Amino acid sequence: MKGTRELVSPSFGRAYPLVLESAEGSILTDVDGNKYIDMNAGLAVCSTGHGHPKVKQAIKEQVDRFIHYSYTDFFYKDYIDLSSVLHDLLPGDFKKKFFYGNSGAESVEAAIKVSRWHTRRQGILAYIGAFHGRTMGAVSLTASKPVQRAGFSPLIPGVEHVFYPYCYRCPLNLEYPSCGYACVDYIDEHLFHRYVPPEEASMLIAEPMQGEGGYVVPPDGYFKKLKKLLDQYGILFAVDEVQSGIGRTGKWFAIEHYDVIPDIVCMAKGIAAGMPLGVMASNAEIQDWLPGSHASTFGGNPVSCSAALAVIDVIKSENLLENAEMLGSYLLKRLEEMKENHPFIGDVRGKGLMIGVELVKDKNTKEIAKKEAGEVMMKCFKKGLAIVTCGPNVIRWMPPLVITKDLIDPSIEIFEQSLTEVEKGK
Ligand SMILES: Cc1ncc(COP(=O)(O)O)c(C=O)c1O
Repeated sequence: MKGTRELVSPSFGRAYPLVLESAEGSILTDVDGNKYIDMNAGLAVCSTGHGHPKVKQAIKEQVDRFIHYSYTDFFYKDYIDLSSVLHDLLPGDFKKKFFYGNSGAESVEAAIKVSRWHTRRQGILAYIGAFHGRTMGAVSLTASKPVQRAGFSPLIPGVEHVFYPYCYRCPLNLEYPSCGYACVDYIDEHLFHRYVPPEEASMLIAEPMQGEGGYVVPPDGYFKKLKKLLDQYGILFAVDEVQSGIGRTGKWFAIEHYDVIPDIVCMAKGIAAGMPLGVMASNAEIQDWLPGSHASTFGGNPVSCSAALAVIDVIKSENLLENAEMLGSYLLKRLEEMKENHPFIGDVRGKGLMIGVELVKDKNTKEIAKKEAGEVMMKCFKKGLAIVTCGPNVIRWMPPLVITKDLIDPSIEIFEQSLTEVEKGK
């Protein structure tokens, strides 16, 4: 019989041989009946856990009504209901408009196109370490691993990458807060005054917390200073909340931690807890594009919209923002305490239930422990904790937002055991 090797694109990275049979809440069961605590949430997607009855019910009811009828040409209610709910959740006391696609990358494509359309400027600023998806526009903004770009040129022109505020490994070799956010000044002094005409830049796109690039958390105040600079030149501020949005960090949107209002917000992943949905929301004024200029046949599929409405309802009614904040703080504290006794833990960081543990071979040199991070991940998997890495050397914690303390505690134990074994070379 033919299997994955013969039939499936070999372009996937693959973490470990987890073959899922079923899943409930925050527990996975594989085809051999082994159980795992799910620290992945299907890559930050299954926000309300697996098989949430209200989400399933909403999906079933919509399937019974109708499954598809392209909103790009026709109309149905859920698209509008979801837009008005999101309208009220998003930061910014102004009118917003919504474009729906099917994935994170599609929401980023829409941001690229609408920002170019609205400003009539071609340039885009993105970050080193960023991940925005795999389509040609999104991958042109992505800069987290060379393999994601190698062989695909020419990518879209006009994109410049700037330093992300990665304070643990400051690219300018400075320290926060004495640096005074020199990485923002760098954009002004070295890009805008030398080779990137700011009047030709349409938007800067930022993950409020870098995801795939290594769960990197910008310091307080960073985005405020950045936004001031962008406003000075009329450059739109887009945030990619595909991974960090819809409650993951204990707020609806991670940018809220920084008290800055974005012009454009990209969402996907957790918004429909597993049904495909990508959203590009913006200040209504920006979406002045013409009929026929952008669309997506499946975008905003009614089943996905119904699921998203149920997900948002569950997050509200089950206080999942509070749960993410409370259990996230607890997990962060436990991991920070662990850092003292473990030579491989270089940095622990995160907000809510989006937490990264950066592994190093030596705390002074901060030499990246890439192989070791992979080994820790594998050992965790064998002990019943499904967790993956990001960046070259970061263990990432992104469980369903419904996770409970009685599953966080054994997860920490499994992680510590696995880490100790790798540190001892076992
Ligand atoms: C921040 C961010 N943006 C965009 C994407 C791309 O999303 P998708 O894989 O749904 O296209 C991802 C996926 O991991 C992501 O983490």
